[in-house]
Amino acid sequence: MMRLFIFLSAVVVGAALWSCNGNGTDRNANTPIMTRETPPPVTTSAESSMPHSGAGNFENLVADYESKDRVIWQKPGMAIAMLGDLKGKTVADIGAGTGYFTFRMVPLAEKVIGVDIDPRFISFMDSIKVRLPEQYRPHFESRLAKPDDPMLGPEEADAVIIVNTYGYIENRVQYLQRLSNGMKPQADLLIIDFKKNNLSVGPPDAYKISINQVEKELNAAGFQVEKIDNEALDYQYIVLAKKSNPADGGQ
Ligand SMILES: C[S@@+](CC[C@H](N)C(=O)[O-])C[C@H]1O[C@@H](n2cnc3c(N)ncnc32)[C@H](O)[C@@H]1O
Repeated sequence: MMRLFIFLSAVVVGAALWSCNGNGTDRNANTPIMTRETPPPVTTSAESSMPHSGAGNFENLVADYESKDRVIWQKPGMAIAMLGDLKGKTVADIGAGTGYFTFRMVPLAEKVIGVDIDPRFISFMDSIKVRLPEQYRPHFESRLAKPDDPMLGPEEADAVIIVNTYGYIENRVQYLQRLSNGMKPQADLLIIDFKKNNLSVGPPDAYKISINQVEKELNAAGFQVEKIDNEALDYQYIVLAKKSNPADGGQ
C-alpha cells in the first residue's frame, strides 16, 4: 500500500512539472486516447449534488484522477492559460484531489492552495510537496476545508479553479457566495466539468450539472460570467467568471 502511494505521488510530481512548461501548453495534447473516468458513487438525482468521493477506494481514486489520457482530453495547460499570467498571484484549487491542476500551477503562481474536504487527499498532496524542487515548495499549501466552506481568508485568492468537482458541492449558490468572500475583487473563477450527452468519458449524465445551470448559479451568487467554452474540450465545458465589483451591485 505504502509503496503504491509513494509510486503514485512520484508520478504526480513528474507529470505535473513535466507537462507544465511555463507557457501553459500541453505537450501531449493531440494524442487520441480516451478511457472512462470511474464515476463516483452517486445517490442523488440529476442537476443535484454528487456525494463526496470519500466513499471510493483511495488508490483507485488516485489512479483515476492521475490517468495518463487525461492530459489529452482535458488539456490542463490550455485551461490554466485561461487564467492569464499567474505570476505573483494566489490561486485556490477547490476540490484539488491529488493536485492534478494544483501542481501544474505551482511553478507559475506565487501560491497555490490545494483545497479539499478529504484528509486523504490533503496528505497525498503534502506527500507530493516534499518531492517538489525546493524552490517550488513555498508556493504550495494544502488546506482542509468543509463541504460548505472553502476556508479561504477574506479576499485571499486572485483566482479560483473548480475542476471535476462542481457537482459534488451542495447548496452551490450559497457556497459560491462564501467562496466569493475569499476572492479579491475582480478575481477569476474557472469551472471545468463534464458536458451532458452520455459521452464516453465522465460520470453518467444524471450526475452532471448542465452548463446552463452553472451559469444560472454563478449569476445568482453574484458572479459575472465572462466566457463559456463548450468547444475547446470534447467532454467538458469551461466557464470563466469574475467576482463582480461591489460598485456594480455584486458581492
Ligand atoms: C472528482 S475529484 C476532482 C479532483 C481534482 N479537481 C481533479 O480534477 O483531479 C473531486 C474532489 O472534490 C473533493 N470535494 C468534494 N466536495 C467538496 C467540497 N464541498 N469542497 C471541496 N472539495 C470537495 C473530493 O474530496 C475530491 O477530491
